[in-house]
Amino acid sequence: MYNFDVVPNRKGTNSIKWDRVSQFGGDHLLPMWIADMDFAVAPAIVEALHKKADQAVFGYTFLSDDYYNAVIHWMKTRHNFDVAKEEIVYIPGVVPALDFAVQAFCQPGDDVLVEVPVYGPFYSMIKKNGCNIIETPLKNDNEYYTFDFEDLERKITDKTKIFMLCSPHNPSGRVWKREELEQLAAICEKHNLLVVSDEIHNDLIVEGEHIVFATLNEWTAAHTITCTAPTKTFNLASVLVSNIIIKDEELRKQFKDRMAAAHTSSASCFVEPILVAAYNEGAAWLDELMVYVKGNRDYLCDFIAKNIPEITVQPMEGTYLAWLNCEKLGMHGDELKAFIAQKCGLAMNNGSFFGEKWDGYCRMNLACTRETVKKGCELLLEGIKTLRK
Ligand SMILES: Cc1ncc(COP(=O)(O)O)c(C=O)c1O
Repeated sequence: MYNFDVVPNRKGTNSIKWDRVSQFGGDHLLPMWIADMDFAVAPAIVEALHKKADQAVFGYTFLSDDYYNAVIHWMKTRHNFDVAKEEIVYIPGVVPALDFAVQAFCQPGDDVLVEVPVYGPFYSMIKKNGCNIIETPLKNDNEYYTFDFEDLERKITDKTKIFMLCSPHNPSGRVWKREELEQLAAICEKHNLLVVSDEIHNDLIVEGEHIVFATLNEWTAAHTITCTAPTKTFNLASVLVSNIIIKDEELRKQFKDRMAAAHTSSASCFVEPILVAAYNEGAAWLDELMVYVKGNRDYLCDFIAKNIPEITVQPMEGTYLAWLNCEKLGMHGDELKAFIAQKCGLAMNNGSFFGEKWDGYCRMNLACTRETVKKGCELLLEGIKTLRK
């Protein structure tokens, strides 16, 4: 049994979430932004780090079979995803992987199709490489988001090379159902699009089942760049480790050639012990954690439904990030952000990070104690009450 009600004090630890909260307008704000957790990591990870530190030499290292076997075991046992060692490409982060994927598989001027709203760097990685972002807005039924397949297919042209998928979806919290992914796959196959599937939230499932896009059928296996990482799952964002799984040999070569040009393929000596401890010994911690996160989600949704009719939220199915529609407050972008900070005392990501049209939304990080969630809810309500007078 892990106690998620007690967390380390992160103030004064160079934590972006806690020590850079002043950018929202004050050090006193309750930080419920940026996607990392307030919880201590699984004890096995700390033990593995101590053991590594005791070696007292941190020279150049390589990733051994222990590393690859841990990834293979995790993908098989948690996701029923059969992966071979040579299909795993280590890279320090998923965002760099999105960047390299666009560089490797597109020419400047090509189109990349993306479901929106979506995690901000999707936009920037496409733009930075001279490609066009073609947006296919998700359908929104009272904050329950689904693909608009007609719109999606209509937007594909000869210039469209990649469909960039976020699964589970940040920020809506949707865990895409098999039927939805199959319909998407059929369209991508028909138009011969490569699918870059960012599955960094794959282990953070509150309800439903994460389906690895590459496991749908033979075509998706051969045409998907699957981006995975233990970082969101085990609260390891600063460790800089992700694994890109590319089954097709030619695609893998193209991707690795781009990486080689940027010299990004060597890992810190701390990466292997951390990943191995997380994947081999962290499953029980994760299972308990997700029960706790579900409790946080249920508390938030219940509180909003009962007390704040101005905000609409759907229970997220995956991730630990709640997507709050605040449009009824009549504020957007910086104005909404300032209201949330100044009147509510909260730091939350503004929806504009996920697409301009969503600047009337906020994203709340629920990977924190129940006490913090309760406090966040109260603060939100107090701030909103000032508008009711
Ligand atoms: C969908 C998605 N992809 C990627 C990342 C970041 O990945 P990394 O830190 O490995 O670059 C995040 C972080 O919040 C995310 O939500």
